Amino acid sequence: MQPPKNKIDQLLKAETLTNKEQLKQHYNQWAASYDEDLSNKVGYIVPQQALPFFTKYVSTGSKVLDAGSGTGLMGTVLKEAGYTQIEALDISERMLEYSSAKNVYQAYHLGILGEPLTLETNAYDALIAIGTFGPTHAPAHAFEELIRIVKPGGYLLFTMRENEIPQGGIFRIEMKRLAKQNDWTLVEESPCFSGFIENKSLLFKGFVYQIT
Ligand SMILES: C[S@@+](CC[C@H](N)C(=O)[O-])C[C@H]1O[C@@H](n2cnc3c(N)ncnc32)[C@H](O)[C@@H]1O
Repeated sequence: MQPPKNKIDQLLKAETLTNKEQLKQHYNQWAASYDEDLSNKVGYIVPQQALPFFTKYVSTGSKVLDAGSGTGLMGTVLKEAGYTQIEALDISERMLEYSSAKNVYQAYHLGILGEPLTLETNAYDALIAIGTFGPTHAPAHAFEELIRIVKPGGYLLFTMRENEIPQGGIFRIEMKRLAKQNDWTLVEESPCFSGFIENKSLLFKGFVYQIT
């Protein structure tokens, strides 16, 4: 296999992974250099871009789950914005380990989105998932389990690569199905935004749902 051409390609390499074990290994191996590679070298700013969509709906006293928390980049942004009750969940124990050094999370959960979680029903006021969902990452059918753990009236915000969420695709179909069966209501779909300072062509979208 060709080595990734640059650091953004390394992130995209995860898109070629075919199963959860490979995904976990990819992030376990990347954990030590993830922050340096993304934040410092290519200017990863999806957490900063997502923040205003979150603060608009979720008060700082809320209990929040950061699903696919990685090394804690979103957690850090949330803490700086005043959130003090944030928990982390990830498939990669190494990503969780690195996030713990930042002291932004009150609890850490090793779990696989797309499979049943050991978290209690209605445990959280809000959930945020940044870069967590995608064809080789958390699948569309994971939404249902996330809805279960967020209180009715609470909010669920996630971002996805714009090219991974086409109209008529599996994610859109599932999002609409859950709205139709009254599990959640779409509150806001953001315009496309750049996720990297170094590469303006990689576009993302944010979605905010309220649990019904
Ligand atoms: C692109 S990183 C984003 C990390 C962090 N949210 C950020 O913005 O820096 C994706 C994260 O989601 C986690 N992840 C991907 N698929 C997952 C799944 N099915 N279950 C749990 N975690 C998953 C990965 O281990 C990784 O830490």
